[in-house]
Amino acid sequence: MTFFRGRRLRRTPAIRDLVRENALSPNDLIQPWFVVETDDKNFEKPIGSMPGQSQYSLHKLVERAGWAVDKGLRSCILFGIPKVKDPQASQAWADEGIVQQAVRALKDKYPQLVVMTDVCLCEYTSHGHCGIVRGEDILNDPTLELLAKSALSHARAGADMVAPSDMMDGRVAAIRVMLDDNGFNDLPIMSYAVKYASAFYGPFREAAESTPQFGDRRTHQMDPANRREALREAVADLDEGADVLMVKPAMPYLDIIRDLRENFDTPIAAYHVSGEYAMIKAAAANGWIDEKRVVMESLIGIKRAGADLILTYYAEDALDWLK
Ligand code: PBG
Repeated sequence: MTFFRGRRLRRTPAIRDLVRENALSPNDLIQPWFVVETDDKNFEKPIGSMPGQSQYSLHKLVERAGWAVDKGLRSCILFGIPKVKDPQASQAWADEGIVQQAVRALKDKYPQLVVMTDVCLCEYTSHGHCGIVRGEDILNDPTLELLAKSALSHARAGADMVAPSDMMDGRVAAIRVMLDDNGFNDLPIMSYAVKYASAFYGPFREAAESTPQFGDRRTHQMDPANRREALREAVADLDEGADVLMVKPAMPYLDIIRDLRENFDTPIAAYHVSGEYAMIKAAAANGWIDEKRVVMESLIGIKRAGADLILTYYAEDALDWLK
């Protein structure tokens, strides 16, 4: 008898461990944080649609990071909320901007923590769009210069990696040239290469105060119906010098993560976004699902699809749950 019996290798926990194909490691997890420019040193404002996540003052962010680093966090990505917003997003590239200050503070205190920065204008523009606007249009090329200046200011502050999320065409090249011209040849770019125009970003826009005042992001972010186009976006960013490719959101786009995995040897990141986090939190709060198990199953699913790195608001919790 040579029947396959799947149950033979599922009999005991040790056997299951032995034949497990994928594993989640603390090394894979990137925690997003929101830092607010404020005079209130102890400012900490919970984000209503993201229970467990808050906007932090610089001081509170450093405190939170210390707690996270102590339990094994190795990497984070920062989003800034400036005091003043204007049509040119001038606080996005200000050397004394809030993200730049936060990078300096975190690198000073926790030099071993990988500090990444999100490069986009939407948190800094008065209209909430990711670029310079004329009428209702988001202008591509005039925006590139500002993105590149933002990335350079993050580099000067000591960021370990910059992550452009704006979806303007040509931004990876513009950032690469700006960084190289200023001696930052070794600073990697993690490109939000395949970023869909998704309703799952809703809670983030509350957190980052970046809801567009008119229109939406569909003229630059991708159509959720498109699969082949993801490869074109990925190729373009690789050609421009991207070091890591990201797919965003994660769970509704596992096929896209798999496509990138099979077509490229670059590290692939996936962003388990705010709406994905909020859905699990809401169901868990109602007692409808087992939060820990659903989260760990989601994260391993994202890895199994082919992601090497996962940006998730659950990173800090997952560190505990991995123990
Ligand atoms: C743009 C940016 C967004 C997210 C990350 N970077 C929002 C957007 O494109 O509107 C969303 C992340 C999330 O939903 O968790 N700066």
